[in-house]
Amino acid sequence: MELDEIRALLKEKGQEHLLRYYDELNEAERRILLDEIAAIDWSIFEERGAEGGEITPIGGLSLAEISARRGQFEEVGISALRAGKLCAVLLAGGQGTRLGIEGPKGAYDIGITRPVYIFQRLIENLLGVCKTAGVFVPLYIMTSDLNDHETQRFLAEHDYFGYPAQEIRFFRQDMAPSTDLNGKILLADKGHLVLSSNGNGGWFSSICRAGLLQETKARGVEWFNVFAVDNVLQRIADPVFLGATILSKKNSGAKVVMKTDPHERVGVLCLRGGVPDIVEYYELTEEMANARDRDGKLLYGQGVILNYLFRVSKLEEVAANPIPVHRVKKKVPYFDGTNTVIPKQPNAYKYETLILDMVRLMESDLPFEVVRAREFAPIKNLTGEDSVETARALLLQNGIEL
Ligand code: UTP
Repeated sequence: MELDEIRALLKEKGQEHLLRYYDELNEAERRILLDEIAAIDWSIFEERGAEGGEITPIGGLSLAEISARRGQFEEVGISALRAGKLCAVLLAGGQGTRLGIEGPKGAYDIGITRPVYIFQRLIENLLGVCKTAGVFVPLYIMTSDLNDHETQRFLAEHDYFGYPAQEIRFFRQDMAPSTDLNGKILLADKGHLVLSSNGNGGWFSSICRAGLLQETKARGVEWFNVFAVDNVLQRIADPVFLGATILSKKNSGAKVVMKTDPHERVGVLCLRGGVPDIVEYYELTEEMANARDRDGKLLYGQGVILNYLFRVSKLEEVAANPIPVHRVKKKVPYFDGTNTVIPKQPNAYKYETLILDMVRLMESDLPFEVVRAREFAPIKNLTGEDSVETARALLLQNGIEL
């Protein structure tokens, strides 16, 4: 797009300030700025209301049911792994602002007496499954423009922690502009927009854009197991989960942990208007939050832990359907015309799509309960809740040397 077109576009969008310093830039800098503006996906700023419909419990497989059918599930899962039907997708494009460290979150060392990197923990877990199944599972890693280089360098330097390099692919997620609280796009300097990761909801479109969908289909992949980088007890390519989801004939599966108390602040799986969805804790009435089934289990108690199975054929069918964009208030550094301002209070909005909104698109889902203390040790903060401290304690409890 050339200058005239960009000017017209910005006028229409009320973002003309982005060219305020254009005349001060050299030719190359001007081109970069125009390209950044031309690449903006304006649809992220459109309000998309959440889907409506009555919220009802979804059911799902409890620990006891899984335990009773474990052998059957595992057999089906292992044979699917052997047939190459699963591809693991590691979401590592986040910025980990709460942890507040430099570099990719996966490169963070959580060891005490020896180095134990987050990526290492995940890969070691996956290697365990590969050993049992006797095959390697393709591992696709989503990065962002902000951490791609560092992530690739770090993993290569550590020899991919023993995973065969030919089974690993990297792909980048898209970036989205941040705005001030009045909706004006922020500048990072005179010639660049403030761009940040656009959330984890775009992982499938980014896989497609990177040309990797064709590759997976050619390999016979039928399922993606998508998971977060920051759960250091993450069980990846879990044959029992895979087998149970395949046998359920649903289009997706979600690992869940039961809420510790009715008011824990986690999103839980439910049906909304008959379709699987995730309901936020603040959407539940007091009565719903406390409702229990005959066995005393919370009816709205299945907290999602960002470990999902998605059927590839269904993803292809619904890929073009829009999912909500979440506007999240954060502290975002910006250029004020003279300096870079590092805000102390949230000053801006980031625009993100979330993977949890994809569950709805899949139309059917199997909630699969796991033991929290064995499979869920998220690292979001340095200290306190969901932190390096809590994760270390859980790892030690699980016999992992740190
Ligand atoms: P979080 O929601 O914890 O976000 O990500 P974050 O960016 O890592 O951390 P904060 O909120 O800034 O502190 C959950 C998972 O989704 C991935 C993360 O890497 C993590 O595995 N993610 C998140 C992406 O891959 N891309 C994104 O744009 C956001």
